[in-house]
Amino acid sequence: MRHSAPADVGTSTPAATAHPEPLPGSRQISDVVDDQAAIEPPLDTEEVLVLDFGGQYSQLIARRIRECGVFAELLPHHVGIEKIRARRPRALILSGGPASVYEPGAPALNEELFQLGIPVLGICYGMQAMVRALGGRVEGADVGEFGRTELTLLAGGGRLLAGLPATQPCWMSHRDSVFEPPPGFTALAASPGSPVAACESVDRNLYGIQFHPEVVHTPHGSKILDRFLRDVAGCRQQWSAASVIAEQVAAVREQVGDGGVICGLSGGVDSAVAAALVHRAVGDQLTCVLVDHGLLRKGEAEQVVETFRQGLGIKLIHVDARERFLERLAGVDDPELKRKAIGAEFIRVFEGEAEKLDNVSHLVQGTLYSDVIESGGGEGAATIKSHHNVGGLPDDLEFELVEPLRMLFKDEVRAVGAELGLSERMVWRQPFPGPGLAIRIVGGEVNEERLEILRDADAILQEEVRAAGLYRELWQSFCVLPAVRSVGVQGDGRTYAYPIVIRAVTSDDAMTADWARLPYDLLERVSNRIINEVPGVNRVALDISSKPPATIEWE
Ligand code: XMP
Repeated sequence: MRHSAPADVGTSTPAATAHPEPLPGSRQISDVVDDQAAIEPPLDTEEVLVLDFGGQYSQLIARRIRECGVFAELLPHHVGIEKIRARRPRALILSGGPASVYEPGAPALNEELFQLGIPVLGICYGMQAMVRALGGRVEGADVGEFGRTELTLLAGGGRLLAGLPATQPCWMSHRDSVFEPPPGFTALAASPGSPVAACESVDRNLYGIQFHPEVVHTPHGSKILDRFLRDVAGCRQQWSAASVIAEQVAAVREQVGDGGVICGLSGGVDSAVAAALVHRAVGDQLTCVLVDHGLLRKGEAEQVVETFRQGLGIKLIHVDARERFLERLAGVDDPELKRKAIGAEFIRVFEGEAEKLDNVSHLVQGTLYSDVIESGGGEGAATIKSHHNVGGLPDDLEFELVEPLRMLFKDEVRAVGAELGLSERMVWRQPFPGPGLAIRIVGGEVNEERLEILRDADAILQEEVRAAGLYRELWQSFCVLPAVRSVGVQGDGRTYAYPIVIRAVTSDDAMTADWARLPYDLLERVSNRIINEVPGVNRVALDISSKPPATIEWE
């Protein structure tokens, strides 16, 4: 668990929370389970456990279940049966996975799961493992089924699929197929490559689907999940932003008692929502600290101060440390050294402020569920690229952590923020790295002249992207200033000025990203405005690289 950042400072947003590349061996949740002791199922909710067999959509399954209003958690497929029993879930979902059920070392399915007396839904690999374990026939096919596929219902769709169109598109991603369901099961659907693309045994409360209901390319997927959750598992709708707030307010009050709480604000969504939530719980026991390192976007520090002090009435210390950071960054060209310098300075300033306060026992962090999963639930921090921790606090700070967003996905954090009254602008802010604009001035030192150019150019881009109605669709959109100059001509004179690079990407989690196809007229407006309105810039370029092989940020 990355206990090294105040709220989202430094590891702020999903940005921060996400890794620059997929971790070796994809996600590492094998240790999450040991950490689950710290994660009590929320009070009065019915939970569904998703057992992860390594599929790329496993997190998405949990998210979709929560979108249906039911709390879901992801656990590794090998979690002990006792642990599952102790959680008293309403239902189990077995996720997809990349392996073939016949492969040596393929993730094993514990057959005791079928004796728990709760409904089980296997998806893709999960279905194949279930079918195989119960005596059905799963075989490798020469050609797999990948992508959009037509599904045809059999037997009227049975309990799980009844009422859905007789034929419908669905998303497949498999090589092995089920050829015969286990004894006592009914085949519910077929596709060109899957003689049994869905099956069920109502008596045993076991269900399987070969396709992926969790992805948007399966248009009836949510309906199928909803059917399973409500009609089969009997879940009621009760997981919502409002229920999270009620629950977390109670939990934070209990944890904190009458201690003092400190929270670093970065301007990002996670720290803002975490702070607002903790404030709802303990009011004036919370003090927020905004370290203004001068590397924030235009008007950002002022916006945070206004939202928190005036808007929410939260005690906020606004530390103007701009000069200090600039001095520290003078002459530093190397990107890693920049990050380290900012991180070290940040810690010094934050600690200095914390020391001035009496009775601080707790530190708020905006850790999200994706952090918990992706960092292996506590042991995986070493696998995270060092720079994503920069700007954080050392582990030896004597505070107990308060992590009210620890069970939430990013979209849920936004919903909670909105419910707590944070502005649309704050809640929908794009990810922004802890070291801020410093990592967007590349190939040279960070100084006030360059920062001013970058801030102004970035503000124009933001304004135009918002005006075009594209802000929410983009994972990130920002400007980069390479510290090189080129020749241009303006009026009758020759110029020798900086280029600005526009970087705009779409992404789900920052692990992979594609460059956004921004409309030409938008690009034209941004380019004209930046060159005309920002002195010191004579060229605007567009970054058309995806990640991988590029990264989202330039440094
Ligand atoms: P890259 O550039 O590695 O970035 O593709 C992935 C996501 O992480 C964010 N990022 C950072 N966040 N401190 C942070 O808090 C950092 O040093 C840092 N570097 C990259 C980046 O904005 C993107 O969303």
